[in-house]
Amino acid sequence: MAVNDIVLHGATGFVGQLVADYLARHPGSRRFSWAIAGRNPNKLARVRDSVATQGTEPGVIVAQAADEASVQAMVADAKVVLNVAGPFSEYHGDHIVGACARSSTHYADLSGEYWYQRRMIDEFHQEAERTGAKIVLAAGVDSIPSDLGVQFAIECLAAKGGRARHAKALFTSYAGSFSGGTRRSMQARKTIKQSSEYETGFHTDPYVLAPSAERSHDGETVAGWDSRRFDSDLRRFGGPFFMAPINARVVRRSLALDGHLPCTYEEGISVAALLKVVWLYASRGFGYFVGAPIPLQPKSGEGPPPWLQRAGSFCVRVHVTTEDRTESALVEVRGAGDPGYLATSKMLTEVGLALLLDEASPRGGVLTPATALGPVLRRRLTEAEEGRFMQFRMLD
Ligand SMILES: NC(=O)c1ccc[n+]([C@@H]2O[C@H](COP(=O)([O-])OP(=O)(O)OC[C@H]3O[C@@H](n4cnc5c(N)ncnc54)[C@H](OP(=O)(O)O)[C@@H]3O)[C@@H](O)[C@H]2O)c1
Repeated sequence: MAVNDIVLHGATGFVGQLVADYLARHPGSRRFSWAIAGRNPNKLARVRDSVATQGTEPGVIVAQAADEASVQAMVADAKVVLNVAGPFSEYHGDHIVGACARSSTHYADLSGEYWYQRRMIDEFHQEAERTGAKIVLAAGVDSIPSDLGVQFAIECLAAKGGRARHAKALFTSYAGSFSGGTRRSMQARKTIKQSSEYETGFHTDPYVLAPSAERSHDGETVAGWDSRRFDSDLRRFGGPFFMAPINARVVRRSLALDGHLPCTYEEGISVAALLKVVWLYASRGFGYFVGAPIPLQPKSGEGPPPWLQRAGSFCVRVHVTTEDRTESALVEVRGAGDPGYLATSKMLTEVGLALLLDEASPRGGVLTPATALGPVLRRRLTEAEEGRFMQFRMLD
């Protein structure tokens, strides 16, 4: 019998501490029990003591991700596991996903490593389908706004009687920075591409996370939005976005699992969004004016300073249209806080709470945020922090 409703693995990392903080202060915290987990008991005790002064006190589980028996014991103690120890491909995320899939325990992580995500699909999708475990990959800013935004736009188009055949997303704001863990994940991506572990086509396959999908057309690329151009549907200048390769693969898995393919997808970032980041950094002298510089080469446990986490924001517009382009829908998803950190920690926590408390479809498997939780998660995110955190709006 699980003794904890939620177990947060990797709580000692930069994102882990933000998630622990949000869980401890959550207005619903009396409705769930929780524990923090990781490999270092002293660090875990420090995180527990720090969050206990602000809200509820979590239990502590010492677990070694490399040791499957230790992982098994941690998972047996949980109804939902949130994993933020990444890079997930390096820190034995597969042991945790496998244990959750087998024991029907819901799971969510912040992985953006497509080769790791694909391996989880190949190895555990069927098992999780059988046991009913929801394994939710990419449950942070990569890729919730894109994934839920596309799903919402498709619903809006369907309400007008249209079926989506083309979808595109443009981030019109993405103001924040990056952490030591993200740096290491980017390095892991470089290393895997240079290795001979996969054929070249694997890295350039837009449908790598939807292996048996009906493809939209042969000319599709991973991110789709590969050059700078004015887009008349979105009424913005946009260009390539460095997070699009992560998000686009996840969105295509959602489109495949929900039966929306063939439907093209492309994702970019507006020129104005890039200028906003430049202004945010320059107006505070990269943090030197406010006594908290932005670390440009953060180590593990380091990331954007508190002022940047609070000043950050994101906004993505999603446009979907029918085959003959006569009917369309335009929606916007916006949120407050540094997208990768303050906002991501809230998104992941709300995913965990939705898995624990909300009525979603009984579908199990290695899923995406949209296919695991969809409208239930949209509602939760909209209600978080009394409506001040995220908004989903139909524009057209
Ligand atoms: N999807 C998104 O939107 C999103 C956003 C932000 C971050 N991320 C990802 O989230 C992950 C975490 O980022 P972060 O900045 O929080 O990283 P971090 O500060 O480096 O934290 C890493 C965590 O992993 C643990 N860890 C390190 N080596 C381990 C090992 N061998 N076995 C088990 N656990 C180990 C660390 O424990 P110790 O404290 O004991 O070292 C720590 O708890 C990264 O993969 C990053 O790319 C994703």
